[in-house]
Amino acid sequence: MEMDKLVSLCKRRGFLFQSSEIYGGLNGFWDYGPLGVELKRNIKEAWWRDMVTGHDDIEAPPGAPEAYEMCGLDCTIIMHPQVWKVSGHYDLFVDKMVDCTESKKRYRYDQVPGRWVEAKGQKVFVTTLAEANHEQEIEARALKFFNLRAKDAADLAWQGGLVSLAKIDPAEYVKALAPEAKALGTLTAPRDFNLMFKTIVGALGTEEDAAFLRPETAQGIFVNFKNVLDSSRVRVPFGIAQMGKSFRNEITPRNFTFRSREFEQMEIEFFCHPSSSLQWYQYWRDRRFRWYTDMGLSGERLQLREHHQEELSHYSRGTADIEYAFPFLPAGEYGELEGIAHRGDFDLRSHMEGKLDPNSKPELKVELGEDGKPKWKGSGKDLTYRDDITNERYTPHVIEPSAGADRATLAFLCEAYHEDQAPDDKGEMQTRVVMKLHPRIAPIKAAVFPLVKKDGMPEVAQKIYRELKKRWNVFYDEKGAVGRRYRRQDEAGTPYCITVDGQTLQDQTVTVRDRDTLKQWRVKVEEVTAELAGRLS
Ligand code: GAP
Repeated sequence: MEMDKLVSLCKRRGFLFQSSEIYGGLNGFWDYGPLGVELKRNIKEAWWRDMVTGHDDIEAPPGAPEAYEMCGLDCTIIMHPQVWKVSGHYDLFVDKMVDCTESKKRYRYDQVPGRWVEAKGQKVFVTTLAEANHEQEIEARALKFFNLRAKDAADLAWQGGLVSLAKIDPAEYVKALAPEAKALGTLTAPRDFNLMFKTIVGALGTEEDAAFLRPETAQGIFVNFKNVLDSSRVRVPFGIAQMGKSFRNEITPRNFTFRSREFEQMEIEFFCHPSSSLQWYQYWRDRRFRWYTDMGLSGERLQLREHHQEELSHYSRGTADIEYAFPFLPAGEYGELEGIAHRGDFDLRSHMEGKLDPNSKPELKVELGEDGKPKWKGSGKDLTYRDDITNERYTPHVIEPSAGADRATLAFLCEAYHEDQAPDDKGEMQTRVVMKLHPRIAPIKAAVFPLVKKDGMPEVAQKIYRELKKRWNVFYDEKGAVGRRYRRQDEAGTPYCITVDGQTLQDQTVTVRDRDTLKQWRVKVEEVTAELAGRLS
């Protein structure tokens, strides 16, 4: 599937629009249109239902060490600034960026791929920003730089494969051809760039009033751990879920909504006893992977990638990413949909004692400032847990399945896009664009049409529409040829179309059409709700 086709369908049919488009748009910000908002809401509601409200607190689900409880939170986007100092975001939530003095553009250095090439006695690192066909783009730029024609491509002596700028020693940048530059050596040395958006709280507007838009929803859960324990009867093991907006000032937002500056997360912090934390990690990793396949992502494009030991912080006993082969990525590459991390007691201890140094070994120690005192002070509140049966007191370990609602929505859209051949009103085969969305997340569950706008058909169709509307988001359409109406619903991903025709007036039956198989069958008018309920469940 070509990404351009999906992007154009999303705009044409109202799934996604560029934010503030009439003013030229704002890079890294996206709006969901009438169909997109329903799709994303359905995805978030499915997650909340499956992880929180629909979770059985009494029986252990398959693969879980024991039964556990789940509850939810909805915290503010702006929190006490100390939260981000203690969590490490203030010091460490940085990307390395480089500036180009010629183009005046700024890049995240690990997202600039390039290749070493030699010609005419000169060695150059040629880079590109192309999202696909990197190698071709780099060759075209190298030919241009060395003033060679395409037929002289053999004069280019390539040295090694594609590597990111992050792997190049900054001392060698003098030999780098930046992505949008004509001259060599225009890149500055890499610098840290904090991704948190800063804002000012209150009317004084001084630096002391600076606060941050949250870059993740997780911290709201950690700082409310004690409130949840004190106000509900949950016992460890239990999980707290939260979904909501997060903000990151990404240096290079790109790939449609994949890397945005404002996005929504769906996060769980699961608190458990240290001795069973590895089993819980394995349970959540598999449980979350299954959720995506249950919702219609195919096993072929989805993978669970366990991080290597050397990628882990030493306090973590495992991290895995659920990744999807998005069509905008080069063949064989995957983009992260969700990370599942074993975080040990890092977060709760940091909020008790002060920012811990993630590299301190073997025990995590509070990071000290130049004065020998904690660099960033914790809350000083007791966030340990006392088991009222065993009387043991300990700091629970945390397993964190952290998903992105926008990335999930994008993956479901990519997976759903299909083109096939279907007959039009005259029986001629035409290319049909159909969004094969899982019925649970489809924005519209069914469309109701009168075949023609006369002979009492609209009245019967409207009655069915009103009946169905009591339970689902359904759509009524009486305008234009019925074939065209079917096509519009195929593009919207509507699983079923119900048509009132001449026969309805004689035997009170309607046709039901299946979006994917194109099969049609007749159902009694009074049984349409039950038919749909059976198929949508
Ligand atoms: N609390 C852990 C955490 O935030 P993360 O891997 O940085 O971990 C979790 O983010 C998820 O949030 C990612 O897997 C992704 O789905 C989503 N996400 C992160 N940055 C994003 C961005 N710039 N645009 C869209 N989604 C993003």
